[in-house]
Amino acid sequence: MGKGIGYGKVILFNEHFVVYGVPSIVSAIDKATTATVERADGTGWTLDDRRHATPGYKEEKLEQQKESVERILKAAGIDTMKNPIKITLAGDLVAASGIGASAASCTAIARALSDEFNLGLSDERINELAYEGEKGYHGTPSGIDNTAATYGGLIWFVRGQPNMMERIKIKRPVEVVVGNTGLVANTKAAVAGVRERREKYPEKYNKIFKEAEELAHKARRALEAYDIKKVGELMDENHKQLQAIEVSCRELDFLVELARKQGAFGAKMTGGGLGGNMVALTPGKELQEKVACAIEGEGFEALRTKIGV
Ligand code: MEV
Repeated sequence: MGKGIGYGKVILFNEHFVVYGVPSIVSAIDKATTATVERADGTGWTLDDRRHATPGYKEEKLEQQKESVERILKAAGIDTMKNPIKITLAGDLVAASGIGASAASCTAIARALSDEFNLGLSDERINELAYEGEKGYHGTPSGIDNTAATYGGLIWFVRGQPNMMERIKIKRPVEVVVGNTGLVANTKAAVAGVRERREKYPEKYNKIFKEAEELAHKARRALEAYDIKKVGELMDENHKQLQAIEVSCRELDFLVELARKQGAFGAKMTGGGLGGNMVALTPGKELQEKVACAIEGEGFEALRTKIGV
């Protein structure tokens, strides 16, 4: 049996902007999806998805998941008509929008295939396969999610030819809370919406994109200096920019406000938006617990994790 793992992630700065080559910052989290690949009878492949999920997520993503698996198999050069397999997904990462669930599963599947078929794939190649798989979900992903899912850690990511990835080192990991709106979001549609509006209102969008780029540099400096207060302020600012490009929603704004009121150093939506998850910067176990409990008290799921692990 072949086995593989892919990490979940939170984008700390510049989701959406990253699609256009604006620098972004992403952190893997300590939750992951695992995959196994076993030889099976018959022909083709089957998938047993045992991940804990936001209600409706798996159903909504089923067709995209099929396309994604087909893409990974093709890129890996595996013909399941000759070599039938059963894929099983599990792990402690909730299958939800905004925390890199699709990318984590793609990376995990790529690794499990490499293991089962003795392909000996490097991380670089696993990342490429996971990117192929991500296209099934996103259409034109920037590559940020699969990069975090494959390599882990805290990453400065710039989309380009080729993509640029640098590790950001921080003194100690910082506690965060990831709050789930419970809404299954369609990243493809969110990305397409930004593209449309960017073409329609070039002046407005160019200005916001420029500000987002400056903000990423400030955020990197603040993280490296371990100025957590500043990092939080910049997350708040980034949330405003994301609101301005219309990818937030009422539920995300509500959770962001709630976290700030409870003392979070900063909070913002994370990932594709229009539902999915938000992230609050809550250094120390006590503050983390306070913010997580407040979110749960309002009937939402909260994940306690860390960035920079
Ligand atoms: C989704 O996690 C992040 C987006 O920026 C899309 C992408 O980068 O491919 C919204």
